[in-house]
Amino acid sequence: MTEPVAATPAATPAASPAASPFKTRVFSGIQPSGGLTLGNYLGAIKRFVQMQDSGIETLYCMVDLHAITVWQDPDKLRHNTRELAAGFMAAGLTPAKSILFNQSQVPEHAQLGWVFNCVARMGWMGRMTQWKDKAGKNAEQASLGLFAYPALMAADILVYHATHVPVGEDQKQHLELARDIAAKFNHDYGVNFFPLTEPVIEGAATRVMSLRDGTKKMSKSDPSDMARINMTDDADAIAKKIRKAKTDADALPSDPKGLEDRPEARNLVAIYAALAGTSIAAVLSEHAGQPFSAFKPRLIDLAVAELAPISSEMARLMADPAEIDRMLGQGAQTARAIAAPILDRTYDIVGMIR
Ligand code: TYM
Repeated sequence: MTEPVAATPAATPAASPAASPFKTRVFSGIQPSGGLTLGNYLGAIKRFVQMQDSGIETLYCMVDLHAITVWQDPDKLRHNTRELAAGFMAAGLTPAKSILFNQSQVPEHAQLGWVFNCVARMGWMGRMTQWKDKAGKNAEQASLGLFAYPALMAADILVYHATHVPVGEDQKQHLELARDIAAKFNHDYGVNFFPLTEPVIEGAATRVMSLRDGTKKMSKSDPSDMARINMTDDADAIAKKIRKAKTDADALPSDPKGLEDRPEARNLVAIYAALAGTSIAAVLSEHAGQPFSAFKPRLIDLAVAELAPISSEMARLMADPAEIDRMLGQGAQTARAIAAPILDRTYDIVGMIR
């Protein structure tokens, strides 16, 4: 489950890029707003582990302040935050190599977030597709926090001067906005203080789709549990969901072009490729001509071999919540040691008496 997979060139940024004054540092976050899915795992966590194991400085955060932009039951939020931490560690992240922590224990995120609320423009926020999707027609009733969400996200990244952010495709627009905020801050104050962070959106499964509808993203909020694989699913559940996953009647093509109008087929091949650490083209050249009745059992074997040990390790870690809390507390202290001087310098640049 934790075997080091060769990271792609962009996922292994140079340890000290010659032209940049900023040290290479990776930050990413996941909301503890529900269970983890295979989408989170393949789009984000698997890459987090690769980057950690390539020796770069890595910070991974449970963004609980983001989670409360929509209603969260307090007990469930605590549970989900611990479960997310357990998922991180079960997948191979370790406090020995990465800084693992929850956002609310590092107050500098919210403090820099406020400064960025004053840098970002209302129009920028209003154009965010995630805001439009989540607020929908009922924007008047959405929380102010949901609207300002991307400014806090920019603060998460920039309070560490992070240079690279591994995410799935759905976060691309938010990361562009983080660059816009950094650039406007630097311009307005005449400094080169915040880096223009690079998104790292790579691999075969940057957008894992629902198992019931290949045109919809796999999501923790999908009402049908059969639409997603949860990281807490055991071997039987994983096998059942893949066996029942929607497909079409045709055999697998020999070329990725042959998947163009077949979203469900494309999704299963992409999941296979991401799990195997290879490309869609490589999977097709091995399985061309196979019907799904032959391909699905192979996919089940691969998924169960990788995911079932993660789910049982998560359950083991969740049996000792105090140990998870201790680990998060220590991670927060280490994170604060980086964030506090950057926030202090930001306040100084803005003109606050220090
Ligand atoms: P969140 O919590 O929705 O998702 C966490 C990560 O999982 C990826 N992801 C997917 N990737 C591929 N296919 C899918 N179906 C899929 N579903 C989710 C997401 O792209 C993401 O990388 N706004 C962020 C959290 C955040 C953050 C940050 C991320 C807050 N601050 C700073 C990076 C840096 C979010 O809601 O992710």
